[in-house]
Amino acid sequence: MNFHIMTLFPDMVMNGLNTSILARAMDRGLISCEAVDIRSYTENRHGRVDDYTYGGGAGMLMQAQPVYDCWRSIQERLPQKARVVYLTPAGRVFTQETAEELSREEELILLCGHYEGIDERVLEEIVTDEISIGDYVLTGGELPAMILVDAVARLVPGVLNNGSSAETDSFQNGLLEYPQYSRPEEWRGRRVPEILLSGDHAKVDAWRLAQSLERTKQRRPDLYEKYQLAEREHSC
Ligand code: ADE
Repeated sequence: MNFHIMTLFPDMVMNGLNTSILARAMDRGLISCEAVDIRSYTENRHGRVDDYTYGGGAGMLMQAQPVYDCWRSIQERLPQKARVVYLTPAGRVFTQETAEELSREEELILLCGHYEGIDERVLEEIVTDEISIGDYVLTGGELPAMILVDAVARLVPGVLNNGSSAETDSFQNGLLEYPQYSRPEEWRGRRVPEILLSGDHAKVDAWRLAQSLERTKQRRPDLYEKYQLAEREHSC
């Protein structure tokens, strides 16, 4: 899967993505990430990419021309029309389901905004999806884009070493993850739950599910309700 990230801060994006599991996935050719500098497409001779907003108001807006030409230079190299995700707090909220849906794409173009946003006309022209990573406002779309790439890339087959770990994680079954323990058996007076030392896999699985259910009920009643509804539908 290939990610193409349109940004005014390509180094920030590449430094963030070129580490750990994603770096290894890139080395192995499972994914690729390129950060394309929007500024290098501006026709403004001073290198400007922003201007005042019509109608007044504080702050500057990213102009349509450099964004459009940057997008065109990427799209021209691709075999098919790619989805273009604009990261914005005004988008639909990113969830594990969205990550799964996007992980089925071969190419994905991400657009990072800055200043007060981007001229609406270029958004209408090129953007297929508007996504927010949560109900808070950041200074730009770079961190949201990195979060999206991470969440999507780890679902690409082979990116995680352990083929099953993406499936047991929090959210993959609609529940929060159960607590986990490693050595030693006792640390600062706290023992690992006996059942995990029993070697009885059926009992361990049942304990883990019960823990997941309890955690979800306590911490995320919204997810718990959704899970229960789905279970009820399933058993009908
Ligand atoms: N840009 C600024 N804040 C954002 C958010 N919460 N989600 C996506 N893009 C953003």
